[in-house]
Formats: sequence, structure tokens, C-alpha cells
Amino acid sequence: MKRVICPVCGKQLFIGDKTASCENCHLYDRAREGYFYLLPPSAKKSSSPGDNKEMINARKRFLATDSYLPLADKLADIINSRFKGAITLLDAGVGTGYYIAHIAASRLQTDDLIGIDISKEAVKVAARAVPEALLTVASVYSMPVADGSADAVISVFAPFADREFARVLKDGGALVAAVPAERHLIELRRALYDDVRPVETKLESEFLHKASREELTFTFELDDSEDISALLSMTPYVYRAPCDRVKEVKNSRHMSITADFSIYTFTK
Ligand SMILES: C[S@@+](CC[C@H](N)C(=O)[O-])C[C@H]1O[C@@H](n2cnc3c(N)ncnc32)[C@H](O)[C@@H]1O
Ligand SMILES: [Zn+2]
Repeated sequence: MKRVICPVCGKQLFIGDKTASCENCHLYDRAREGYFYLLPPSAKKSSSPGDNKEMINARKRFLATDSYLPLADKLADIINSRFKGAITLLDAGVGTGYYIAHIAASRLQTDDLIGIDISKEAVKVAARAVPEALLTVASVYSMPVADGSADAVISVFAPFADREFARVLKDGGALVAAVPAERHLIELRRALYDDVRPVETKLESEFLHKASREELTFTFELDDSEDISALLSMTPYVYRAPCDRVKEVKNSRHMSITADFSIYTFTK
């Protein structure tokens, strides 16, 4: 059972075909695309928080090339080696749903799937991509999910809300988080900047135990300038690099690019 809670009173939400409601009669409509909007107005700092439509479309286009399939496979391997029976799997910062859909397809069991993202545009796309999942617009820092109700949380290039992840995980549950490592997209960065410095995100948590950190490095080829533009639009580089260099990259017809990820597993 998906233990989703009311964002107003914290009581269990009963999910129906058209609405969700709690015992205190707080009522939420299911959107046409199938998701629920559970972000309280107080948590909304802008009129459309999270990734915008353009970024989501770019992400959807790029991920459809399956350039990051080795990462999706790796996440599925980690989940499958840890959990044999049916689980509750939560994707915190689900984006277009690419990774949770891939993991679900690799499982022998039917899991309870929950996807959360603060971007309504992302959740709309994810709700169509993974109709079997419960998709909600909410913040990963305050998730509408009951304490100790998830076996596994995945966080892929999304805000690392480790305190909240620890709250929703069951004892013995696992958080699998993927972040960019030093050489990630190095060719793209070299094409955009003269001075390229290594970037690395290191994850630490006071709420969870670090069980492992694995590196995953591979090269992928893009042979279409639209796919290259889509990848560029997914990154923060597009805002910072000189305009002429951005145009040059967008017009490239071929790029061979390094993907470099660190994948952490934390346990509760
Ligand atoms: C880089 S994208 C990654 C999306 C997806 N995990 C993937 O790898 O395709 C980061 C996502 O985090 C979402 N996000 C940013 N801040 C958030 C927050 N406070 N709560 C929930 N989602 C958030 C964005 O809307 C975006 O979809
Ligand atoms: Zn309520």
C-alpha cells in the first residue's frame, strides 16, 4: 500500500480514481494526466518551481537516446540485489520518470511506486511514462509520505534531502543517490569554457549510514545536433558559457562524451 499522507494534516490519504482525501476531509483532485498536486502554497517559492517545460522536454529528448542507460541499469542492479520481494520504491526528484520506469521494468515483482517532483511539468511527463506509479507534485524536503514507509528511495541528480529521506525510509531501507563525478560531460565543458575545473559532488549524511560509493564511467555518442542541444539545455552550463561557444556546440553534428557518475548507497 502506498502510504501517502495529507500535506495539510499529515493523516493518511485515501487514493481514489478521481480524488484523494484524508479523514479530515482535505480533498485533492487527480489531474488529467493522473498525478496529484500535493504542494502546500506555503512551500511554493515561485509560481512554477523546479525544472520548466523547456528543461523537461530537453531531458525527455536526451534520455530517449538511452545515452544514460548504463546508469539506469546500475541503479536497477543495486535495487534488485538488495530487494528480492515487492517493495515501496520512491523516486525523489523523479523528473520525467526515466529511472523509476527502468527499475520497475527490471523487477520480478510489482512494486509500489511513488514519484515526487516539485515541477508540475516534470510530474505530468512522468505520470504518462509510468502510469502504474503514484506521481505527486511536492518538495523532496517535505514529502507527503508516511514515516518509515519506503524500502528504497532513489535520488538522481536531485536535491539531497537526506533528513527527509531518512524519515520516510523503513529501518533497513536504502537510499541510492547518483551525482555527477569529476569527468562528467568533460568534452562538453571543454567545448564551452577555456578553463575547465574538475567538479565533484560528495555526499555525506548525518542521518543515514554510507554503505558504498561506486563509480560509473562510460562514453556515449550523439549524432544529432538536436540531441546535443537537448543535453546542453539540461545542464547549467548553457546559462554561464559564452554565447558563441554555446551556438557552436548546438550546431555540432557529432560528439563523443564522457559520462561520469558516483553512486552512493546509504542505509537506515
Ligand atoms: C536534474 S533534474 C533530475 C530529474 C531526474 N531524477 C533525472 O535524472 O532525470 C532535477 C529534478 O529535481 C527537481 N527538483 C528541484 N528541486 C526540488 C525540490 N525541492 N523538491 C522536489 N523536486 C525538486 C527538478 O524539478 C528536476 O526535475
Ligand atoms: Zn488532511
